[in-house]
Amino acid sequence: MKPIEIKPKIFWVGGIDWDLRNFHGYLTQRGSTYNAYLILDEKIVLVDTVKYYLFEEMLSRIKEVVDPSRIDYIVANHVEMDHSGSLSKILRIATNAKVITSPHGEKGLRRHFKEEWDFKVVKSSDSVNIGKRTLQFFLTPMVHWPDSMATYVPEEKLLLPNDAFGQHIASAERFDDQVGWNVLYQEAAKYYANIVLPYGEQVKKALEALSALNIEMVAPSHGVIWRSHLSKILEAYQKWADNKSENKALIAYDTMWGSTERIAYALRDGLERAGAPVTIRNLKTNHISDVMTDVLSSRAVLIGSPTLNNGMLPTVGAFLAYLEGLRPKKRIGFAFGSYGWGGQAVKKIQAILETLKWEMPLKSINFQYVPDEEELAKTIKIGEELGNLLEKKEV
Ligand code: FEO
Repeated sequence: MKPIEIKPKIFWVGGIDWDLRNFHGYLTQRGSTYNAYLILDEKIVLVDTVKYYLFEEMLSRIKEVVDPSRIDYIVANHVEMDHSGSLSKILRIATNAKVITSPHGEKGLRRHFKEEWDFKVVKSSDSVNIGKRTLQFFLTPMVHWPDSMATYVPEEKLLLPNDAFGQHIASAERFDDQVGWNVLYQEAAKYYANIVLPYGEQVKKALEALSALNIEMVAPSHGVIWRSHLSKILEAYQKWADNKSENKALIAYDTMWGSTERIAYALRDGLERAGAPVTIRNLKTNHISDVMTDVLSSRAVLIGSPTLNNGMLPTVGAFLAYLEGLRPKKRIGFAFGSYGWGGQAVKKIQAILETLKWEMPLKSINFQYVPDEEELAKTIKIGEELGNLLEKKEV
């Protein structure tokens, strides 16, 4: 299999996971790649590896350019197994290679693999000379694991940031301009919303550290390499890290006999009357990882469920559990639903949204059985009020 030369004597030697559709709960409609990079200099360096089942693919790409037993350094920017999964196998071939990693990286790799590898532990601004080039390291803790780090090659203005700036896309193309910004923005946003979102403060620190570097190419560990849309993706990361959303509303709900759905659509009518664009997602038919991408861009998030067994529908419960973990900030929240008796779902949704410290300016809606005309008119009015609040908010 062919390696792709991304800079003189620097090759992409990763694996393409065409069949991947689920990445620990994240629906990866377009598959993914695990990107490894081979640098040929006086020292031979492999930056990251691939998931264990794509080891042979990575190895065959490496063999096209160099005897893998000659690898001197393997940089493990991140412990997670989609990037470290082939470390054991490659180290059985590159028996003299040192493993360069962060302090948490060393701990994590030891715990995971129980191997006595030759570790070289680095911290921010440490560098390793490999001949004509230098590897500089930047710890990026919690972007998105404690061990995460980025490798920078100043002579090539090349940043290898591992997961940051990634997208889950399997493609024959290796560069951003070959795929196109619209698709990449959509996939980079989904990736941020589902993986990076809880760590906005750490992303800001990493962006600040990286702003001092002269970078013309960013080669992440998933998806394509940024060379033409670099300023746009950096700008998008800054916006997402600042929790900046758009003056849009998202209505996410599930329904049992249609009442909660009628409320959802009446809220939509009110929001639209106020001029707010509205996205409606039925949680029975939309994957929670796609709905999270809508949350990333929406300033108002309205969540609805009927009451079932003193609680909410499991689809809504699963979405809220996911949302709680990803912790988006600076949103306007609203809970709604319907019930036959009891009516606990709405209170539970409201309580969860309050833990996220979202603004909850309007009293929730909870109608018994089927909403009547008067109740639907009231609901439209509430939607309009939410829409008007949205218009006034700075984003
Ligand atoms: Fe792509 Fe955190 O692994």
